[in-house]
Amino acid sequence: MRNKSKSLSAPCQEWRLPTRHLGRRVLVYKRVDSTNNIAAALADDPTNDGLAILADQQTAGRGQHGRRWHCPQGAGVLLSVLLFPPAELRRPVLLAAWAAVAVCDTVRQTTGLPPRIKWPNDVLVHGRKVCGILIEQSRGTVVGIGLNVKQSAETFAAAGLPLAGSLQSLAGQTWNRDAVARLLLSRLDAEYTRLLQGDHAPLQSAWCRDSGLLGQWVTVQCHDATHCGRLEVLSWDGLELVCADGDRLCLLPERVQHVVPLAAEEVNALRGHAQP
Ligand code: BTN
Repeated sequence: MRNKSKSLSAPCQEWRLPTRHLGRRVLVYKRVDSTNNIAAALADDPTNDGLAILADQQTAGRGQHGRRWHCPQGAGVLLSVLLFPPAELRRPVLLAAWAAVAVCDTVRQTTGLPPRIKWPNDVLVHGRKVCGILIEQSRGTVVGIGLNVKQSAETFAAAGLPLAGSLQSLAGQTWNRDAVARLLLSRLDAEYTRLLQGDHAPLQSAWCRDSGLLGQWVTVQCHDATHCGRLEVLSWDGLELVCADGDRLCLLPERVQHVVPLAAEEVNALRGHAQP
């Protein structure tokens, strides 16, 4: 995690939300290099647990795998939360599920559109990526969320991002970005409160629902192998696949890089019923 923040300005606003853990203090910036950097730079002080950083614009927004996160000024929620979770909540798979489910709730509640979690860290609507999540951990845990709200389809096309979407481009309606950010923070807080109480079951079942993968035939890509089968169990403890020959396979989520649903003809071929 990079912790030398080069904030280009001081916060222009500070919100105080009536939440339990997260967003009780929200620093809102006009322009920063990366909200994750601002949060990481504040990780020396444990009293910053639950602090949220929002920005109108990032000059060096980071994505997964060293990529950049592009978002025109004012068009998206650019959010990082700083946490000091207990050891059992520090698993990236769980933190990604927590953030993705909160984004799905926010998308559903705001637009009525059906969101899907794309393993491990993206949220799609109608196959287009509306949100990416970047988790960085060193002294503290920083969960960065970029949620596209107002970009037009033309903006994505011009940026060479034909598979991206925003709430506005997909729903044909515009929303107040700050209201979306507040709703997202309240969803994150509600679920984090449950997790701190040791109640993981609601998040796990929401994760299964929003992934839409249970009972599906899928390809599971791991670092060292690729497996195909019907996904029977999806939990923090493991993904359980039943392969075409009936063998059962259990994979730790940490081993899994991608889970991709198979097309009907691929399923038929796997089960020995190839279509003419
Ligand atoms: C991805 O590649 O899909 C992850 C994108 C994460 C982007 C967010 S925007 C807020 C936070 N600050 C960053 O620099 N990155 C994350």
